[in-house]
Amino acid sequence: MNVLLLGSGGREHALAWKIAASPLLTKLYASPGNPGIGRFAELVKLDIADHSTVAAFCQEKKIDLVVVGPEGPLVAGIADDLRAWGIRVFGPSRAAARLEGSKGFTKDLCAKFNIPTAAYGRFGDLAAAKAYVEKTGAPIVIKADGLAAGKGVTIAMTLEEALAALEACFDGAFGSAGAEVVVEEYLTGEEASFFCLCDGATALRFGTAQDHKRVGDGDTGPNTGGMGAYSPAPVMTPDMTERTMREIIEPTMRGMANLGAPFAGILFAGLMITDQGPKLIEYNTRFGDPECQVLMMRLKDDLLVLLNAAVDGQLAHMSARWSDDAALTVVMAARGYPGTPEKGSVIRGLDEAASDGAEIFHAGTAINGGALVANGGRVLNVTATGTTVGEAQKKAYAAIDRIDWPQGFCRHDIGWRAVDREQTGK
Ligand code: AMP
Ligand code: GLY
Repeated sequence: MNVLLLGSGGREHALAWKIAASPLLTKLYASPGNPGIGRFAELVKLDIADHSTVAAFCQEKKIDLVVVGPEGPLVAGIADDLRAWGIRVFGPSRAAARLEGSKGFTKDLCAKFNIPTAAYGRFGDLAAAKAYVEKTGAPIVIKADGLAAGKGVTIAMTLEEALAALEACFDGAFGSAGAEVVVEEYLTGEEASFFCLCDGATALRFGTAQDHKRVGDGDTGPNTGGMGAYSPAPVMTPDMTERTMREIIEPTMRGMANLGAPFAGILFAGLMITDQGPKLIEYNTRFGDPECQVLMMRLKDDLLVLLNAAVDGQLAHMSARWSDDAALTVVMAARGYPGTPEKGSVIRGLDEAASDGAEIFHAGTAINGGALVANGGRVLNVTATGTTVGEAQKKAYAAIDRIDWPQGFCRHDIGWRAVDREQTGK
């Protein structure tokens, strides 16, 4: 098969690595890709926002499957547009990608189909939103409705913060994504990322993970896209997994089919495991980044076979097998992240760092004058496996110690919750 992978981050590097291991693969193309992906794929410059250019490329290169990494093109309808040209695409339609593209849409779906989630209100104007917040009080969570690159959520611990967040949203801080706002109850518990591979009718469990969103050790400092992750998530016990499937995923699949927008692709449920059980925080309609990196390290089956089955509506006949090992990834970021990262610093020593079995996925790198340089906020994902999360953690940090990149930084405690559990046996 000829495959075109869209995207340029660590998630896409991990997907490329796994797709390249498939005996079904003839040739992999990636756009725009990155230097790490370039080891497995021919990198092509396509204007991904121009769906007809992508379609013309697919026809010329006889692409049998397009795999879409990030949410932006999905919400913009790339899957529908390519399918209209007869091209097979792994990823949800525009209508199904509303599960990520509109938080209000998802909350209404939860209300309609009785899916456990935080209590909420949906508002198109400041006065009504303010009145709701004043009535409910803090802590409370304010969310821009649309895609805001992970920045549209404010956890307001005081009424003042909540009102300021509402004003910022309606003032255009997130552009059109903030023209509508969801205000919701503040949930407490432990978070987990839960994945299902879906074909419109069937949702196949596709692994669990936990990520670390805060930039600093001890889960402190500003939110980021994710500073590291590990899989599996210990909080997702067999009972919690069953409940999540029954109470959240299956009603969502039925609900979406009911609305005429069956969901096919990767459904990524961000969960809060509360005293009452799992509650949905949000859906994403793509793999998590960096969660994908740890999932790919543990997936024993051929990813292309599974993606094909999802596209062809054949998942009812499939299973996915996972290694019993744990996997852990540490994000190395460029100084300045999550603000403005410094670009262009030279990174050395990756081959040596990877010599002990670690996989180093590129997230934001470029080649400049023959040298590998930082070219984004999150730059490298140093990933390892082990019989325990603790062992995977040791291996990942040992690899990091061998990387020569003084301008990079990472958290030093990725996986702490799971490692604590392993040490205390709880
Ligand atoms: P989201 O972009 O919706 O994933 O939100 C980003 C982060 O904000 C989540 O990973 C949670 O840590 C936190 N969060 C979002 N919604 C809530 C909520 N209702 N209660 C508590 N924390 C939340
Ligand atoms: N790591 C969280 C996300 O991909 O949304």
